[in-house]
Amino acid sequence: MTKATNIVWHDSVITKQDRTELNGHKSPVLWFTGLSGSGKSTITVELEKALFQKGVRTYRLDGDNIRHGLNNNLGFSPDDRKENIRRIGEVAKLMSDAGLLTLTAFISPYKEDREQVRDILNDGNFVEIYVKCSLEGCEARDPKGLYQKARAGEIKGFTGIDAPYEEPSNPELIIDTEQLSVEEAVSTIIHYLKVNNHIS
Ligand code: PPS
Repeated sequence: MTKATNIVWHDSVITKQDRTELNGHKSPVLWFTGLSGSGKSTITVELEKALFQKGVRTYRLDGDNIRHGLNNNLGFSPDDRKENIRRIGEVAKLMSDAGLLTLTAFISPYKEDREQVRDILNDGNFVEIYVKCSLEGCEARDPKGLYQKARAGEIKGFTGIDAPYEEPSNPELIIDTEQLSVEEAVSTIIHYLKVNNHIS
């Protein structure tokens, strides 16, 4: 693949600040990271519903869904996961620039990749939310039967089994889904968004 040359950035007349004022809320990227089965999708679905009902303009990007379309040429090798997260980071940035409070639900197992997304977003726009659940807990839930397949050797390179998950060392929020209900998780995150003036 060759890189494009002779390309020049064009700014829009409408700024992100204009969109924030029109919408009445900021547009951070809420980056949910955690093991398969930790609860990322469940929480983001319910959180989005609650935010939408409050009049917040949102959009949700989810691992399984994005891998059906935009990233359907990527697998689960370390390089493919890196590219997956890079593309999602860029898409999330566009959504944030467009004024949408963006929720992403990807395992995003590598610290370096998550930090790269933090770097491409403006200050304070990246809210890393660690959806914490022990491997034993995720495996006991096994909603898609994937852990069972991984243990049986039918899936290679499964996160937590024979592929790594690097825990965030300094996330903005930790949501422990072995302690909190979905409702408690949602209200904890909404409280965080209010206290930090992302929404009113
Ligand atoms: S990553 O690591 O961020 O690129 O993964 P992501 O895009 O979030 O996709 C994770 C979902 O893909 C399914 N799946 C796997 N997960 C982990 N490892 C392997 N090898 C794998 N193969 C398929 C699985 O359903 C994940 O969904 P969640 O919602 O996390 O359970």
